[in-house]
Amino acid sequence: MIPIPTPGLDLWARELAKRSPEASDIFRVRGPLTKLEKLERDLTAATRGGKTAERAAGKLIEHILERYHETHRREFPQAIELARTVERVHAGDPDCPRGLADHLAVMADDLEGHQLKEENILFPTMLAGSCGVLRFPISRMMAEHDDVYEQLDRLAALTRDFTPPRDACKTWRALSQACRKLDRDLREHMRLENDVLFPHFL
Ligand SMILES: [Fe+2]
Ligand SMILES: [Fe+2]
Repeated sequence: MIPIPTPGLDLWARELAKRSPEASDIFRVRGPLTKLEKLERDLTAATRGGKTAERAAGKLIEHILERYHETHRREFPQAIELARTVERVHAGDPDCPRGLADHLAVMADDLEGHQLKEENILFPTMLAGSCGVLRFPISRMMAEHDDVYEQLDRLAALTRDFTPPRDACKTWRALSQACRKLDRDLREHMRLENDVLFPHFL
């Protein structure tokens, strides 16, 4: 397999693959880019401060707010509720994830503070077209992301890697699933900020 290194060549390989199925075997041709992948490409490729970059950054911020900030706000309380139930009902079970509800509550609290800083200060400054002045607030946000990664490690440990016991009840299964989703969403949320959005403003 030959990986396709540049967007231009990628398009060329896609065209080739449409005409000849063998080309897909020779080149590593993926399916069409998703809306988000296009957005990421637009922001990464755009000249800093230009109109295209401004538009792409605005759209990415909109996506982060809707898909992640609002989703976390909705889903953390549900996971906390499930954890409180499981910890109460299965208190005598040696596999009971003791301390999970409290850990989730701390995570939700810290995250709310973090998201408010992004929503009220960082993102509006980015949308106003400022670049250099953001170095300090961005490094602060990235340090807070590192704290979230540590909290996620603890979340995985408390939930045994998001795996409920074989004979777990419906609530326990739902809890493991909810925590797995929080983990996946938070990691993708931070990847978009750390690797795509923030570098554009440094
Ligand atoms: Fe965020
Ligand atoms: Fe963030």
